[in-house]
Amino acid sequence: MNSTILDKAKKILGKNLYEVDLNGKRYRRTVPSKEFYIHQWNWDSATHAMGLVHFDEERAFDELRSLVSGQWENGLIAQITFNPNERKYYPGPEFWGTEKFANGEIITSGITQPPLLAISTEYVLRQSKNNTNVEKFTNEIVTSIIKYHNNLHSTRDPENSGLLTVIHPWESGCDNSPRWDSMMQRIKLSEIPDEVKANVNQNRSDDKIGDTRHRPGLEDYYRYMYLVDLYSKWDWEYNKIVKESPFRVKGILFNSIWCKANESLANILDIIGKTQDAKKYYDWAKETRSALIKSWDEEIGQFTDYEILGNKFIPIKENTITTMLPFLAKAVTTKQIKILMDKLNDPNQYKSAYPIPTTALNSNKFELSRYWRGPTWPITNLFVIEGLTRYLESNKCRKYRNFLVNSTVKMIEKNGFFEYYDPTQGSARPDRPNSISSLGFGNFSWSAAIYVYLVNEYQTVIE
Ligand code: GLC
Repeated sequence: MNSTILDKAKKILGKNLYEVDLNGKRYRRTVPSKEFYIHQWNWDSATHAMGLVHFDEERAFDELRSLVSGQWENGLIAQITFNPNERKYYPGPEFWGTEKFANGEIITSGITQPPLLAISTEYVLRQSKNNTNVEKFTNEIVTSIIKYHNNLHSTRDPENSGLLTVIHPWESGCDNSPRWDSMMQRIKLSEIPDEVKANVNQNRSDDKIGDTRHRPGLEDYYRYMYLVDLYSKWDWEYNKIVKESPFRVKGILFNSIWCKANESLANILDIIGKTQDAKKYYDWAKETRSALIKSWDEEIGQFTDYEILGNKFIPIKENTITTMLPFLAKAVTTKQIKILMDKLNDPNQYKSAYPIPTTALNSNKFELSRYWRGPTWPITNLFVIEGLTRYLESNKCRKYRNFLVNSTVKMIEKNGFFEYYDPTQGSARPDRPNSISSLGFGNFSWSAAIYVYLVNEYQTVIE
């Protein structure tokens, strides 16, 4: 373990701490990066807590408390919980039309993100050493998690398919992944009201604060904001959104996390003696696992997301890292292990200098430096690592898991704590000779948290 880098990681998490008084209470939350993402993001915070617990338990608890603080009456825990008066990030609170759902002064966006909360909470609880606080914290948070899961289960699967519907690319966590291209293309630019486009033209900030070449395109942004505008006009009525939205997908990353999260919630309930309640969530995990198993496409040898057209599920056949996510849900058969491992070890697909590229290198959708269309993200690597850890009886999985832990740690040590990284030898940033592989915004919290997590959790496999 490199202790200088570990100290740096902790410092970044320290600097990105944001304290705010809302509804008469003080909240301590970690923002993803002060360079741009100045609010609280859902799955980022869940990840932060998994790193924080290794050196500041109370802060890990506070991170999760703050994450659930803006929960809606109906159970939704949003993608973003806003810090008042911060203007850097667009779209801020005024663009969502969600004030009426706010818990007092805590305003949020209207969509969610991959539901990592229960997984993180289970981890934080198991790591915590200070028993009195753990009990108090568990009782507080478990009610929110139950409400959140019940909300997702009751509103997001009208087809009873075992898979939840994702209704915005931002909700998928992988905003402009090529997996969403065909669904997004169906939203004709001519259908988008002029005021939505004008609003984007006037207010968009990510491509000005950050590097345009690394960010989603303008037309993507029109479509993102079109969906936000539409749902706001529909008053965030989820029963309508999941049936009528022009963007409806069953994402395998989102659903693999959902499956594992239900197991985690059930485990937490078991730990606190609510065995009867736990059963329901183990059953939900099973339902989703069976559906993920069915999403395997024999012909291309991949798990596939689905887009929903009318009431048809159309498989999305892009070759991206999400085909590796069902490991996390324990949904991969022995035959599939071989196929997926061959992909990971193939230099034409996923075996790059800094694996794992988010889109296969030989895909015609691969882009070296643009957001989710190629670059390597520590968060997706983390899920593959955790997924393969469920398959250690396979030598191939064990070997690759250990390799990926080491390459992720080295990638961060060599290049710093960035949002995402050039998966190749560094050709994306010839202008940064000392840190050639770093992309997106800097001093990034989840890259720091994942580093802390990996060097602690996988001490014995780090070379
Ligand atoms: C970007 C990512 C999203 C992440 C957020 C904050 O929008 O696509 O997954 O949660 O940044 O880091």
